[in-house]
Amino acid sequence: MVNVLVVGAGGREHALSWKLSTSEKIDQVYAAPGNGGTLQNVELSVTDIEGLAKFAQEKNCFTVVGPEDPLATGIVDAFVEKGLPIFGPTKNAAKLESSKIWAKEFMKRNSIPTADFEIFDDAQKAKDFVKSYEKPVVIKADGLAAGKGVIVCKNKDEANDAIDTILIKKSFGDAGSKIIIEERIDGVEASYIALCDGKIGIPMATSQDHKRVFDNDEGPNTGGMGAYSPTPIIDEKLGTEIQEKIIDKTIHAMRDEGFEFKGFLYAGIMIKDGIPYVLEYNVRMGDPECQPILMRLDSDLYDYLHASYEGKLNELPEISWKNQYSVCVVLASKGYPSSYPTGDEITGFENISSDAFVFHAGTKKQDDKIKSNGGRVLGVTALGSSLQDAINNAYDACNHIHWTNKYHRTDIGKKGLSNL
Ligand code: AMP
Ligand code: GLY
Repeated sequence: MVNVLVVGAGGREHALSWKLSTSEKIDQVYAAPGNGGTLQNVELSVTDIEGLAKFAQEKNCFTVVGPEDPLATGIVDAFVEKGLPIFGPTKNAAKLESSKIWAKEFMKRNSIPTADFEIFDDAQKAKDFVKSYEKPVVIKADGLAAGKGVIVCKNKDEANDAIDTILIKKSFGDAGSKIIIEERIDGVEASYIALCDGKIGIPMATSQDHKRVFDNDEGPNTGGMGAYSPTPIIDEKLGTEIQEKIIDKTIHAMRDEGFEFKGFLYAGIMIKDGIPYVLEYNVRMGDPECQPILMRLDSDLYDYLHASYEGKLNELPEISWKNQYSVCVVLASKGYPSSYPTGDEITGFENISSDAFVFHAGTKKQDDKIKSNGGRVLGVTALGSSLQDAINNAYDACNHIHWTNKYHRTDIGKKGLSNL
């Protein structure tokens, strides 16, 4: 029996902890720092690499890293150096997410389909380019900016404002010392996530996130307001094309360039006229995509994560998924993604039926009560025999949960229904 340490505090990490705890091979599942839903929390921050390593060593843990920050900081390199087993990519491999410029240039030199782009560090040159460019643009800060460093521009004025925000006002600090200006591709978006061991990548179930805060994809971008799996937007043919032209190619090219990619490789895909383009890579599971994906997983997650670490995914049987749909509705604090209140008591957990599960994200336990403690608070996730069934079950469960400043979208999964 081994113990597992899950690094992170979000809904994704609660889902990873929950699924790993069902493995017969695992004794204890710890979460650092965890949230109000994870059962055995360790008070260490996700970037306290020395502290996490010490804990993992003392408790004989296999460590599973949820978010990008510790990966970009080099947690995997540090653990490997100490001989501690850990799931996730090294700092160099994590550049696929931590530097958008590095990722774009990597895609360009390896002919991986992505939007055309130019790079700038000078605001005037960037504005001159926008003036002369005939297509609509998206402006991106190079580094990690908690999902906020991407500005999808409706017109040239917005593009000029975005350039000022990032390069002149330095709103994203050093993460914005360089920008990418790329062609805006107007299509449908989906998430394609593969589990990689440096040599191969096996596809996870497909999913689709809902990034805007309001119904009908309006309002500002968020970390994700809900997701469902599988998505009819990626049929078998398109799935094979994404796997071959994007995932396999990425893993092989990374290996050729000297960076073995182990961990979850997440390609944010835009599909236009049947052609998939990579909008971004993430080097981790999506949040909230992780919640509906893991709800459908029948195989033992630990076996697969450990085989990724060992470079032996080819030795495992085909991964098995429930032949059902699942939907995760994010319950957020009113005001998210800007400012929002926290500290509200949340009630109603006891009324959730067995086909649904409430993953915690921004919550904390205080005097045996669960209180809101973040923007995205809970991920109410349910299975169903059809997508409509899963949507109904998820929203039924949402209606049982109460707190003063609860907010959620009412149309999670609807985009999938219109594509069935
Ligand atoms: P990213 O963090 O790079 O995935 O960007 C955040 C969001 O911005 C994406 O989920 C898309 O909705 C949008 N986006 C990014 N790049 C583009 C693009 N080239 N064309 C259209 N929308 C984009
Ligand atoms: N749901 C999008 C992300 O995890 O980046």
